[in-house]
Amino acid sequence: MNIVLGITGGIAAYKAPDLVRRLRERGGDVQIVMTTSAEEFVTGTALQAVSGRPIRSNLWDKEAEAAMSHIELARWADVVLIAPATAEVMARIVSGGAPDLLTTICLATEAPIAVAPAMNHVMWNNPATQANRRVLEERGVHILGPGVGSQACGETGAGRMIEPDAIATAVFDLGTSKGEGLLAGKKVVITAGPTREPIDPVRYISNRSSGKMGYAMARAAIAQEADVVLISGPVNLPEPAGVEVHSVLSAQDMYEATHDAIEDADIFISAAAVADYRPADVKAQKIKKNDESMSIELVRCPDILASVAALDTGPFTVGFAAETEKVDDYARSKLEKKKLDMIIANRVGDDCGFDTDDNSVNVFWTDGERRFPTARKSELARNLIELVAQRFYAARGTDTQPRLTVVSNIE
Ligand code: PMT
Repeated sequence: MNIVLGITGGIAAYKAPDLVRRLRERGGDVQIVMTTSAEEFVTGTALQAVSGRPIRSNLWDKEAEAAMSHIELARWADVVLIAPATAEVMARIVSGGAPDLLTTICLATEAPIAVAPAMNHVMWNNPATQANRRVLEERGVHILGPGVGSQACGETGAGRMIEPDAIATAVFDLGTSKGEGLLAGKKVVITAGPTREPIDPVRYISNRSSGKMGYAMARAAIAQEADVVLISGPVNLPEPAGVEVHSVLSAQDMYEATHDAIEDADIFISAAAVADYRPADVKAQKIKKNDESMSIELVRCPDILASVAALDTGPFTVGFAAETEKVDDYARSKLEKKKLDMIIANRVGDDCGFDTDDNSVNVFWTDGERRFPTARKSELARNLIELVAQRFYAARGTDTQPRLTVVSNIE
């Protein structure tokens, strides 16, 4: 794997030689690109010795550019990893600015980008950094960590760079070497977001789903080289790169779009919060208020997940169960009733599950389970997709046994 390793100016840069060693141990060819401030923390001489390649740092270095221009470098990379990544470099990538070699490569590359943030915990929690982190995730940038613990400044909190070994493992698990992704050649259909069930031309019944979980699953599946079809209810999220997106409104629309896409699918993941009921009669004109109370008759919507699971030669089918109480019990009962291959039990409430950046889930299948600690949806999705791939291959009886790596934000 060709890895451009960007090193930016944080105290964690002292771990860079160890990171290079671990990337090379796994077969990585590492080209280091340092920012000017990184040079304050670690010497180019040490890094050149461990990487075996001249260090690049200056966009205007004529000799280095003649050997391999920044555009060639951007094309050469199978992955661009920035570790440590400062708040500044995250902001630069978000803005699309390219004042130096590293950010120019980020703008010019089509390879996946992974960043391992490292900064003071107050800087990490600053709304600006968190907003940048969210944008990067939505654009498909892999955020590795940060870890929680004592910091160089003497304080404690989230912001430590995760350990070099965990970064190296995560980079190699991105499935970025062509044809080596866990789901290379597999078609994965995912539903995400809410549905809207119209009452009249101006009103509808819906729910609080933001689509973040389903979109994160789609990005994680793409990172594992799946062909992904995302059937999305109305959300306010950018389309993940490389994903075929079908936008729908109602449960019936989602049912039809799913069945159009499902025929040759290998895996179906139902992350959407689909309405269970819709108004029996959609009024042609806006309903006027007359009486003190009013009733709307509701009828059942199609159960998309159950209908896919019931197909004779259907895909490996994964449901979510959003529950406010007895989460595991209700999820297990849905696994059985809907005849699913796997179910992801999701506790939901005012502050969890719906429209949050974090989530916490437990996964069940007929003879097993796995529990995941609270983590960002993007991070959770990466681990869930690996688990889905593992169970998919086990169910199909193939030899492929993908590795399962949990990149935890807790050290
Ligand atoms: O979108 P976010 O804000 O990120 O929030 C994520 C989430 C909480 C919505 C997501 O993680 C989640 O739990 N999705 C499932 C929500 C849901 O509808 O759960 P349920 O227990 O009501 O339904 C069980 C399963 O049946 C789900 O896989 C659902 O997609 C599916 N279903 C439900 C009803 C229906 N008519 N058709 C379906 O396919």
